[in-house]
Amino acid sequence: MIAVIGLGFVGLTTALGFSEKGFIVKGFDIDKNKRNGISNYKIPFHEPGLEEALNRHLNKKFFIAESIDEAVNKAGIIFYCVGTPENNNGSSDLTYLLRAIKDTLDNIKKDGFKTLVIKSTVPPSTTSEIIKPLLRYSGLIVGEAIGLANNPEFLREGYAWSDFINPDRIVVGVEDDLSAEALKNIYNIFGSEIYFVNYNTAEFIKYLSNTLLSTLISFSNEMSVIAKTIGDIDIPSAFNILHKDARWSGNPAKMASYVYPGCGYGGYCLPKDTKALYQISKKKGFIPKILKQNIEINKNIKAFLINELMDKISKEQNIGILGLSFKPDSDDVRQSPASGIINILLNNGYKNIIAYDPLANKNFEISYGIPIRYAESLKELMKIVDVSVLITNWAEFKENEILIKSKPLYDLRYFLE
Ligand SMILES: NC(=O)c1ccc[n+]([C@@H]2O[C@H](COP(=O)([O-])OP(=O)(O)OC[C@H]3O[C@@H](n4cnc5c(N)ncnc54)[C@H](O)[C@@H]3O)[C@@H](O)[C@H]2O)c1
Repeated sequence: MIAVIGLGFVGLTTALGFSEKGFIVKGFDIDKNKRNGISNYKIPFHEPGLEEALNRHLNKKFFIAESIDEAVNKAGIIFYCVGTPENNNGSSDLTYLLRAIKDTLDNIKKDGFKTLVIKSTVPPSTTSEIIKPLLRYSGLIVGEAIGLANNPEFLREGYAWSDFINPDRIVVGVEDDLSAEALKNIYNIFGSEIYFVNYNTAEFIKYLSNTLLSTLISFSNEMSVIAKTIGDIDIPSAFNILHKDARWSGNPAKMASYVYPGCGYGGYCLPKDTKALYQISKKKGFIPKILKQNIEINKNIKAFLINELMDKISKEQNIGILGLSFKPDSDDVRQSPASGIINILLNNGYKNIIAYDPLANKNFEISYGIPIRYAESLKELMKIVDVSVLITNWAEFKENEILIKSKPLYDLRYFLE
């Protein structure tokens, strides 16, 4: 049996993914509302395919545990999928993970071998220098009384289900044979290549991936600023022609979408992972200059674009915000560029802001509570605004290009240009 601790994007997908592959899975989330919602077949976020999977497996192969004890007791493998947000200085906040592991250690009967698997993203050296010593401190030697592994997750929000079910690579950081065997047994069935490496390498591979993506986005944004500064450069054409290089078109990698200018990267992973890798490297003695600039560029791109826009829009005009989620096909608004941009506008005295997002109006309102209005539909928004600012490149906006362009448009994603 498999236990999954933390039932957010990654945890719920992992739990249902293993159920889909035939395993019995018990999931536990510390948030009672989340547990109750899932028990009533409600997914707390938008993710294609997940609701159907929940309908197929709930109370058949996937069970909600009401306590960590109930989740872990009969499990041979325990996946930790809790959040690892950023601390004030950008380092990774491991509080939730350490709490979940401590709760597990308090509850497991030390009678059978269990493997604890860290699926949450943690900076390189966390498993070896923090988690392993924590187990030893509780009297559990890795490889003897308990197993330990790091298994980074590469799913993309919006494609979480298909990415999990058909992974392009499975990375397992493991240093004891019993855990390696246990993970091989459950992952073999996925039919993808499994790469066994040590703890630090597994953790590093995840950051290698996310910081490359964030660097590509910041690179594109810096290039767009250079192009604007030089002037008379057709920015979308330049990037679209760059993408014609066959090396970018590998489907479904869609690497090209990271090399395209916009108003910055957001969401849960790229901002915090880029900062966390910067912090851990700095702590260990090397200051990464590219990552530092990458973070700065992501912060400054919003103000750069908005300053340009504020020269052209008056404070009396009704400003329509097109898109609030950090990317299309998602209702995730964590660190979404829209929040930074709206705040700059509000701080500069622009009070008449009305937003529309196909999925994320509610989440945005709850998460940020900032004084703006929301429109129920694109039609309603376009009726009341004088100008609009496109922040998220939703397909609905492309489909309604004529309607949107009936009013002056500031397209911060170069999407409808
Ligand atoms: N979101 C992504 O696309 C993505 C992709 C790959 C990896 N990751 C990583 O996976 C981890 C989880 O990300 P997420 O987006 O699923 O986060 P999330 O915030 O959606 O979910 C985390 C869940 O953990 C629960 N939780 C916190 N402490 C707990 C505890 N002690 N016991 C039980 N449950 C607890 C929370 O209530 C929450 O529901 C993070 O480390 C993230 O960096 C995320």
